[in-house]
Amino acid sequence: MTARRRARGCCWKRFGALSRICALALLVLSVHGHTCKHRAPAPSEVVYKVYLKTPRITKRNAEHQLRIKIIYDASVEKLDPDKRALVKDKLFPQAIDYLQKAFQVRRQTGPLLLSRQCSTNQYFRKKDDPHRYCQGSCAEVTRCGPVIVPEHHLQQCTACSETGKPCDPVGPPDGEGVDGADFLLYVSGVTTERCGQENVVAYAAYCQLESELDRPIAGYANLCPSMISTQPQEFVGMLSTVKHEIIHALGFSAGLFAFYHDDNGKPLTQRYAGGLPPFNESLGLYQWSDKVVRKAKRLWNISGNTMVSHEVHLLVTPRVVEEARKHFDCPILEGMELENQGGLGTELNHWEKRLLENEAMTGSHTQNRMFSRITLAIMEDTGWYHANYSMAERLDWGRGMGCDFVMKSCKFWIDQQRQKKLPLSPYCDMVRSTPLKLTCRHDQRAVAVCNLQKYSRRLPQEYQYFDYIPGIPTEDLPFYGGAVEIADYCPFSQEFSWHLSGEYQRGSDCRVLENQPDSWRNYGAEEYGPNSLCLYQKSAFVMEQCTRRMSYPDWGSGCYKTTCSALGLTVWVQGMPFHCFYTGQLLKINVRVNTWVYSGDLVCPACSRFCSSCPLPHELPPLNASQSIPIDPCSSSSGLVVTLWLLLANLAPLFAGFILCVWN
Ligand SMILES: *[C@@H]1O[C@H](CO)[C@@H](O)[C@H](O)[C@H]1NC(C)=O
Ligand SMILES: *[C@@H]1O[C@H](CO)[C@@H](O)[C@H](O)[C@H]1NC(C)=O
Ligand SMILES: *[C@@H]1O[C@H](CO)[C@@H](O)[C@H](O)[C@H]1NC(C)=O
Ligand SMILES: *[C@@H]1O[C@H](CO)[C@@H](O)[C@H](O)[C@H]1NC(C)=O
Repeated sequence: MTARRRARGCCWKRFGALSRICALALLVLSVHGHTCKHRAPAPSEVVYKVYLKTPRITKRNAEHQLRIKIIYDASVEKLDPDKRALVKDKLFPQAIDYLQKAFQVRRQTGPLLLSRQCSTNQYFRKKDDPHRYCQGSCAEVTRCGPVIVPEHHLQQCTACSETGKPCDPVGPPDGEGVDGADFLLYVSGVTTERCGQENVVAYAAYCQLESELDRPIAGYANLCPSMISTQPQEFVGMLSTVKHEIIHALGFSAGLFAFYHDDNGKPLTQRYAGGLPPFNESLGLYQWSDKVVRKAKRLWNISGNTMVSHEVHLLVTPRVVEEARKHFDCPILEGMELENQGGLGTELNHWEKRLLENEAMTGSHTQNRMFSRITLAIMEDTGWYHANYSMAERLDWGRGMGCDFVMKSCKFWIDQQRQKKLPLSPYCDMVRSTPLKLTCRHDQRAVAVCNLQKYSRRLPQEYQYFDYIPGIPTEDLPFYGGAVEIADYCPFSQEFSWHLSGEYQRGSDCRVLENQPDSWRNYGAEEYGPNSLCLYQKSAFVMEQCTRRMSYPDWGSGCYKTTCSALGLTVWVQGMPFHCFYTGQLLKINVRVNTWVYSGDLVCPACSRFCSSCPLPHELPPLNASQSIPIDPCSSSSGLVVTLWLLLANLAPLFAGFILCVWN
């Protein structure tokens, strides 16, 4: 699933005794960042204005779930049995289940019966006749992406002779179509040419739109067989990828912006000949009106006290505007910014990565993807669906951060936070280096590293943010930026995974039990599990026996179990409770486990961020100045003390990159 550029780790030791442990502990850090390239299909691949009969039974007021009918192509049956089972039994059923609960179609249609493609892509329309007539003849087969649509899903061919007359139905009659569905999704597993490019995992798009509201009624999703991963730790990512792709096919696509309708069923973009919006050749897309997408200029602070003008595209439909304003707490925000980087396919088809980092409809997979209210809002604003907002997932990135966060550059935000002596979160300014300085993901649910790195080339001027980085010569500053290009190169703390000789060991999400390190290398006395949070460490943890002392060069944060009670937030280390009374309070950890004594300092997070009830200021006990006596690892004997440093030098951070979807 991933093409990982492996960096060789190297390891050295101060004292001979530890060479074995050292070799075993050789881990490689992997930070994920997979890009999605959903390019709207070319007009020739799409059939617009497909006439469907009105439903036989119209239940006027009955809200009903979106009904997606999956049709597996023969290629899916040819996949390896474990991949086939994953696709058919888990990925698609679970993705569809979520989307069906999240959306309802506004207007039901009769049975889905798709229109045939024309052999020449030239067609006519007759006055007062809803069908399209191919010039000459209908195509031999009708395709939806790489899939050939089965005959029984197709309407009868209607065609005009080369001269334009007569125009008649020809060939076999209408197929039976699919009743009880709003959208046909053809799923294939073919190694297409696109699969070969840039490690594409999957891609999807719509292929037919109905005539009344231009709602997509059919689409496809192709999975690239060699990229399907059956690894359990990849499942959540694969599932959100499949949901992401289907959302592109259902409505979130630059190729569909010009087809959006308002709540009254009126097109938001004016229609011309054949009922279609104007086509913009230079964009290769139908041109939307400014009721859907508008350009805006932002004043953008960059390095050297310079301001540049940064042009953005904003999605400005009413619910998206409302949800974006609420999310960022910025009442003057004009719309939600669309991605401006990543080339055709990524730009315009996704939310801006800098602003909605882990939202599932941003252009790449980095961490912890969430389908937020803003994505549900755009689906509602297509005019085709109602959204069930109880299916929205909570997005913390950017939440309540105000207009400066959403309308200015990340340099402006970072500088401002620094001046106010506030944390830079969600951004960061530490260069990834050895040993690693560990931090926490913005929501404090995973251990992370700051993805600030040196590029081999200067960044474009508008993305040069640094006036100063400790230890970096001034002339090199233009080469520094965050590892995620489409986040406007803004550096942020990113979750990662540990690899040993190229093999996945564990991830860094605190809530995943499987990420618990083996006890013999649990230097930070960490505990992973559903109730764990990422806490900052004030110093490296030390693991001590009477004659041995070990510490780990990569430190800065770790996962610890926490609970909430009337006392507020309590941190548990090896079964011992430590109470947090104040934000930023230092917890002196000193616990014994078997023959080992662990000691270190943890920083208390804000109770109110994680507990629903926290003690009021007057209920807080005075902070104890007196320190408890540390546990002596040599209860009685005073043996020879050898200090061993387990140094994992050159724990090379490495990127895994795969693209989720592209088009030819
Ligand atoms: C809305 O979502 C909830 C779960 O969050 C689900 O129980 C309910 O069935 C959904 N409503 C519809 C109409 O699908
Ligand atoms: C077509 O798209 C280009 C690029 O975005 C834009 O500059 C141009 O104004 C568009 N043309 C029309 C007619 O809207
Ligand atoms: C942003 O740029 C303007 C104009 O150069 C400057 O006055 C302002 O101080 C800058 N703000 C920050 C936070 O650097
Ligand atoms: C402060 O110290 C006293 C005596 O050592 C102890 O009884 C009390 O529980 C401590 N309070 C806190 C908040 O740790």
